[in-house]
Amino acid sequence: MEHAPTHILGIETSCDETAAAVVRRDALGRGEILSNVVLSQLEEHAPYGGVVPEIAARAHVSHLDGLVAQAMKEAGLSCEQLDGVAATAGPGLLGGVLVGLTMAKAIALAHQKPLLAVNHLEGHALTARLLADVEFPYLLLLISGGHTQFQIVEGVGRYHRLGTTIDDALGEAFDKVAKLLGLGYPGGPQVEAHARRGNPARFAFPRPLKGRKDCNFSFSGLKTAVRETVNDLGTLSAQDVADACASFEAAVAETVADRLAVAVQMFRAAHPAVERPALIVAGGVAANQKLKAVFEQAAGRHGLRLIVPPAKLCTDNAAMIAWAGAERLALGLVDDLSFAARARWPLDQAQAPVYGSGKLGAKA
Ligand code: KG4
Ligand code: ZN
Repeated sequence: MEHAPTHILGIETSCDETAAAVVRRDALGRGEILSNVVLSQLEEHAPYGGVVPEIAARAHVSHLDGLVAQAMKEAGLSCEQLDGVAATAGPGLLGGVLVGLTMAKAIALAHQKPLLAVNHLEGHALTARLLADVEFPYLLLLISGGHTQFQIVEGVGRYHRLGTTIDDALGEAFDKVAKLLGLGYPGGPQVEAHARRGNPARFAFPRPLKGRKDCNFSFSGLKTAVRETVNDLGTLSAQDVADACASFEAAVAETVADRLAVAVQMFRAAHPAVERPALIVAGGVAANQKLKAVFEQAAGRHGLRLIVPPAKLCTDNAAMIAWAGAERLALGLVDDLSFAARARWPLDQAQAPVYGSGKLGAKA
């Protein structure tokens, strides 16, 4: 089914980024970002070492109007020229989701445009198709502060979960390890920076679930091992911190490589006709260079086409929400103005939740 080009406004407020963007989807399904503005609330939350829901919701209320106006201005469009209004409707912090979704409903109602209530995880999952010509089905590894999962993306709205974390998300593990070592929030970039000066062989941290036949993850034991090491060391020297970061990253890299090998096998078993499957890695942790090397090696070894979106589109943003909205609109999947925000909303609803996945209030 071909369509005329569409222009979609996207709004993202599910965690600690307030974001608005406009994307264009042409008749051939190719995407273009016309504007993409993000306001991070990092400074507001940093003193607390994590995201504080009430502060997040209040900051969304203060900034969203201005960001939407800026996104529209940069795109050079009026609301009349939009073909739809998309907003994250979950999963995430309910207070924040409500702010963005309500704003989208108001714009849709005032200008008589379709509303697209987007699953934030679907935003991450479809970003690759905004950037490149990627056919369904493909393998998605989502590694963020709130989610760590393998999905087969069969189509828009059609997901099959292969594996997930049974406790902490990978980004959360980076953040907790950073906290144990006295580093700032968010922890991932700090751990990565210190690891560069460290010895990855100094501490023999566990490789959780390595060798298992499924492709689930677990990071709480690894985090505990780091905590025990920190306690044993007592006062930490700069070299101790660097070595702990490097050893932690080495354990994560080896674990992810092992879990990925199983996920690829599962994907190939499900779709034997796909010769060179695409592997899309999304979420903030995808910015980690050590993990990027793991993905590149795995792509070579398993014959995959690797796509890691640029960091700006891997971390939370509204272009991915606008794009998911555009893909949904092209299929006629529009939503009613009564659509309710959802704190929990797994992509693959056919599967039972696993403890720890899609946790209430977690970053997505
Ligand atoms: O996708 P994201 O921006 O937000 C959501 O969780 O939705 O991901 C944030 C997570 C944080 O836990 C952060 O510590 C982690 O991504 N992260 C990293 C790196 N950059 C961000 N983890 C490891 N290495 C990095 N370079
Ligand atoms: Zn996210």
